[in-house]
Amino acid sequence: MGYIEAKAVIGTNSWGGKAYGKAVRGSYVPDSVIKDAMREAVKQGLMIYDLARDYGLGKAQKMFGDLAEEIGKDHIIISAKYTPFTHYKRNCVRKSLEKDLADFRRSYVDIYLLHLPADIEQHLAEIIELFNEGKIRNIGVSNFTLEECRLAKRILDKAGIPLYGVQNHYSLISREWEKNGLLDWCKENGISFWAWAVLEEGMLTDPRVKTKFSLMKFFMNRQKRKMFELYRVMIAVAKRHDITVPQVAEAYCVNKGVVPVCGCRKPKQVRELAEAVNVKLTSGEVRKLEEAADKSGAKILGHDLFRFAVPK
Ligand SMILES: NC(=O)c1ccc[n+]([C@@H]2O[C@H](COP(=O)([O-])OP(=O)(O)OC[C@H]3O[C@@H](n4cnc5c(N)ncnc54)[C@H](OP(=O)(O)O)[C@@H]3O)[C@@H](O)[C@H]2O)c1
Repeated sequence: MGYIEAKAVIGTNSWGGKAYGKAVRGSYVPDSVIKDAMREAVKQGLMIYDLARDYGLGKAQKMFGDLAEEIGKDHIIISAKYTPFTHYKRNCVRKSLEKDLADFRRSYVDIYLLHLPADIEQHLAEIIELFNEGKIRNIGVSNFTLEECRLAKRILDKAGIPLYGVQNHYSLISREWEKNGLLDWCKENGISFWAWAVLEEGMLTDPRVKTKFSLMKFFMNRQKRKMFELYRVMIAVAKRHDITVPQVAEAYCVNKGVVPVCGCRKPKQVRELAEAVNVKLTSGEVRKLEEAADKSGAKILGHDLFRFAVPK
């Protein structure tokens, strides 16, 4: 497979166990509905899934592998990660990838990201080894600053391998990676920029739609009252394009040249994501959305949320 042109990506962090789904997301979505969502993704041409060993408290990958087997996995593009919670140890990436491949029932992953900027030289050296063995087809990084991305690119350049992509947190209310030049640097260097949690864990959805209580929502709801004007603008834009409020947040990213990674568990969410990719916002709409987002001062996940997890 050559260059992977990503338009939108399905996130899987919310897939997995019942208790986890209820506590974190407020509801459990049965596997059968997630399987229907995967079938819908085939229909919509959304083929890329974002995975990591710890997603769904360690249950998402195995579940993904099982469901992919059932619906047919030939078309599926897998983006997986190595998460360095501790310092580098020889073969740590290899061991983790072997478990991933067993979960996916595949001999390679299409895209593989270094999940955190820890011991960058050593981890990337092992990822390059696995690339050269054909187990990884494209290499990217996640939660990296511009300086860390430059370093990763230098290391990969030396090995003659392009840096495929950067996956950081970015959304309408969290645009620091754009303001500090990382997004432009990616564009200048032909590197795909993927935004995780473009819906801010559900906070950039329609405030008029009631959702069930969850721990996450309990902590985040305080930010909602700062966002009334932003919601007003989002609702107006949604009305103009005959789309939903979350589609405005997704389309916003696409219109900024950013690939949205969106946590979808239901067919409708997959359909909306696929449609949002084709919505053209006007420059006036983008400006109004950004002005309202900036004025709100709302901060939900923060642009560099996982810095604390990088081993010192
Ligand atoms: N690289 C990293 O460090 C990193 C970190 C975190 C996440 N990620 C990736 O990013 C993905 C997305 O993040 P996320 O899942 O945490 O958050 P998200 O995509 O910002 O938000 C998910 C929430 O939005 C709701 N939602 C999704 N589509 C919707 C739609 N069309 N209409 C209304 N509501 C909708 C979901 O509802 P339901 O509750 O009904 O499902 C869920 O509550 C993850 O799954 C993961 O793959 C990467």
